[in-house]
Amino acid sequence: MHSNPWDAIYQKSDEQLPWFCNKLDYDLDCFLQNHFYTGAKLLEIGAGTGIQSAHLKNIGFDVTATDISSIAINKAIKKHSGEIKFILDDILNTKLCANTFDFVLDRGVFHSIHRNGHKIFIKNINKLLKNHSYYVLKCLSKDEARPIGPLTFSKEDILNIFSPYFKVITLVDSYFPTPKREKTPDLLLPKPLRAIFAVMEKRCDSVK
Ligand SMILES: C[S@@+](CC[C@H](N)C(=O)[O-])C[C@H]1O[C@@H](n2cnc3c(N)ncnc32)[C@H](O)[C@@H]1O
Repeated sequence: MHSNPWDAIYQKSDEQLPWFCNKLDYDLDCFLQNHFYTGAKLLEIGAGTGIQSAHLKNIGFDVTATDISSIAINKAIKKHSGEIKFILDDILNTKLCANTFDFVLDRGVFHSIHRNGHKIFIKNINKLLKNHSYYVLKCLSKDEARPIGPLTFSKEDILNIFSPYFKVITLVDSYFPTPKREKTPDLLLPKPLRAIFAVMEKRCDSVK
């Protein structure tokens, strides 16, 4: 028995995970490639076994990757040892230092957080970023009709929830790719999942 439900999920191989994608999503890749500069410090929260983080490291970012699952973090360390700083950390109770990162990437974490945790989640992301730095969010959209499990959001929801702490720069419809899984065809979803892609700049005058 695992006390952390994410640990039970991470017993599976990467390819069996419903959110598995072996490359960076197109929109995340475009934004981050265009905004990369030498020395840019990027935090990926809820990084799982580090698939996206490895691509970000290859772009050139100085990557720190966290997750609440010790199993995911241990797998990530084994796969990418030395290249990326992997840290077991709960974003709702983070031990990372304030004002550290130029970018925070969140692919599928915010939509996994219970509504009661939203305020502290957003405050903590804001706290970890340097002034005027970027939070890059990919979450499930309310336009996704299939009952996948996590919360879903409209663009208006995102504006209402994040505006006290962030200036929303980009807010567009997107999708989570569902790549072909040769080994586990049972997990192949017929269509990509509808998503929202957002880029937000830290507001330094945020409501505390
Ligand atoms: C849908 S998965 C996405 C994994 C990865 N970002 C990807 O796209 O491959 C959500 C991830 O968030 C992590 N997670 C959930 N709650 C968290 C929390 N409070 N703090 C840090 N990570 C969390 C889970 O362990 C899981 O790895």
